[in-house]
Amino acid sequence: MKEKYYLTTPIYYPSDNLHIGHTYTTVAADSIKRYKELQGYDVLFVTGTDEHGQKIQQKANENGMKPKEYVDGIVKDIKELWKTLDISYDTFIRTTDEYHEKAVQNIFNKLYEQGDIYKSLYEGLYCTPCESFWTEAQLVDGKCPDCGREVHKTKEEAYFFKLSKYSDDLIKLFEENPEFLQPASRRNEMMNNFLKAGLEDLCVSRTTFDWGIKVPFDDEHVVYVWLDALLCYVTALGYGSDNDDRFKEYWPANVHLVGKEIVRFHTIIWPAVLMALDIELPKKVFGHGWILFEDDKMSKSKGNVIYPEPLIELYGIDAFKYFLLKEFSFGQDGSFAKEKFLMRLNSDLANDLGNLLSRTVAMVQKYCEGVIPEPMKTGEHDDELISLAKEVPEKFEDYMEKLNFSNALEEVWKLIRRTNKYVDETTPWILGNEGNTERLNTVLYNLCESLRIVSILIKPFMKNTSEEIKRQLGLSEESASWESAVKWGVTVPGQKVVKGEALFPRLDIKKELVRLNEANDKLISERSKRTKAKETKPVVEEEFITIDEFDKIKLKVAEVVSVEDHPNADKLLVLKLKLGDETRQVVSGIKKYYNKEELVGKKVVVVTNLKPIKLRGVESHGMVLAAECDGKLTLVSTLEDIPSGAQIS
Ligand code: MSP
Repeated sequence: MKEKYYLTTPIYYPSDNLHIGHTYTTVAADSIKRYKELQGYDVLFVTGTDEHGQKIQQKANENGMKPKEYVDGIVKDIKELWKTLDISYDTFIRTTDEYHEKAVQNIFNKLYEQGDIYKSLYEGLYCTPCESFWTEAQLVDGKCPDCGREVHKTKEEAYFFKLSKYSDDLIKLFEENPEFLQPASRRNEMMNNFLKAGLEDLCVSRTTFDWGIKVPFDDEHVVYVWLDALLCYVTALGYGSDNDDRFKEYWPANVHLVGKEIVRFHTIIWPAVLMALDIELPKKVFGHGWILFEDDKMSKSKGNVIYPEPLIELYGIDAFKYFLLKEFSFGQDGSFAKEKFLMRLNSDLANDLGNLLSRTVAMVQKYCEGVIPEPMKTGEHDDELISLAKEVPEKFEDYMEKLNFSNALEEVWKLIRRTNKYVDETTPWILGNEGNTERLNTVLYNLCESLRIVSILIKPFMKNTSEEIKRQLGLSEESASWESAVKWGVTVPGQKVVKGEALFPRLDIKKELVRLNEANDKLISERSKRTKAKETKPVVEEEFITIDEFDKIKLKVAEVVSVEDHPNADKLLVLKLKLGDETRQVVSGIKKYYNKEELVGKKVVVVTNLKPIKLRGVESHGMVLAAECDGKLTLVSTLEDIPSGAQIS
């Protein structure tokens, strides 16, 4: 049976139009998947989307949509992009998938029952309009970093995960298992900035919005988005459901690939949660660097976003993937520049690789009637070429195991460049003119053989190019197999070569820069138009009700007699209301807008025939009406004074 290999990318936020930086993790994961499969592993590659949370809910509201409807559209685009990039994932998990939601609830329950999650008070600084908690350090000039408004101290009930309990085990994990987090520099950062500084328990529920997975036993709370998203790595395999066969087969993950800014979540929170669940830890988390645009962070507002689509449309997927993984060192930040991209295409792909293939095929056609000849006479430079060709696959694999894609590719290009040099050294055209057939045949055979090895090694990164070299050289499946990359002399003489298009045509960089800029700018403008169109809220068709339906709602004027704090909820007040001869108790969520004292004696409007309910254990019989806009709230009253109990119709 094949050995299992489980690989994940992050579970992406469904943001409009992913840029090339976003594609980096996934392109790398795709290459690992293909490479491991070539080595004979049974690989499972999971990716997906992280769709809950306040931001998504707000965006959906701004677009006049329900959150699910809003994310559905974006997820469709993301899947389309992965298709364009030929990403070979096996499972695409959405945090809104029902099976995931149920599993998260089961896991939350388990952690609560065993005491790893407990209820307490979340104390912090709160921005009411943004419904967000902040720490002192996050404030900008003492104000909310999102909207710039005042924040105030608040307390709110929330569930906490006992992260602090796992501090020592986490430190041990880092100390005893250096492989766990790569590259090593990130390990020091986690140790010094977080683990050694001491861990606090983590708030894992929110009540300020409801677009999330409900805490199963307390549905005013939704599960913290990071816990929700991290759990995808195991729920995608069936953990927490009735059928966890895949989990038993594939877990632990061999590698979680993540960008550097989310390493903390993956190497502190995630292992602690797994420890609490008594699940084996992933073998490795790799925190790659960022792709910047000319040393600056890519962002729509800066207008410096580079989208993958124009690059792929103009130059192909293989060139795009090659550039991303060759140009940047996976663990470190790198800077994208269009000129650099085009220059690399010309030097590495058109000049080095493309040229080697086209001249090899052309010479086999010219001197050997298109048939790969039998090697007959060894000569100067052969040994050097052959010994390099034998060394390269091993070095390539070494680098691949370390996820050092750039060096792995560099090894292949060393062989390509050495082979081109061999052409110049052996001058086959002179051998041809001299009629030195024996030596010429050997040289041409060696060129084909070297290209055969190249075509195998580039497969994980450049599937189409690899196929095309195989086609032009007429290679059999067997001679193009992964195992045969380490052997010299596998090509069977007598095979017919086929002339094809240039693999990568040479580019006029000045002209291409113009084309590329035009294509990228066109896309930016199309996308910003699309966003603007979405932001123009659709006119919601008014739903009319009949007068009979309206008559069902009974409204009365009431006088506030007394006001108390709710004993179990920070946002609620308990009002005693006088409606003529009758007195009622109503619970209302207006505490952040009114002082208790200022309400006493006020006349308000109450819906009197609402079914009584208990709100956090206190009975509420009716509802006071209020108007709300842009974070402001005011209770509804009458223009002139009128006795309490007066009917409103
Ligand atoms: N939803 C979280 C992940 C939850 S995993 C349980 C998230 N999503 S994200 O959409 O913001 O990021 C997805 C991936 O894209 C991350 O690995 C992130 O580092 C990567 N990148 C986003 N911009 C990037 C660059 N400019 N360069 C390289 N990768 C960066 O985080």
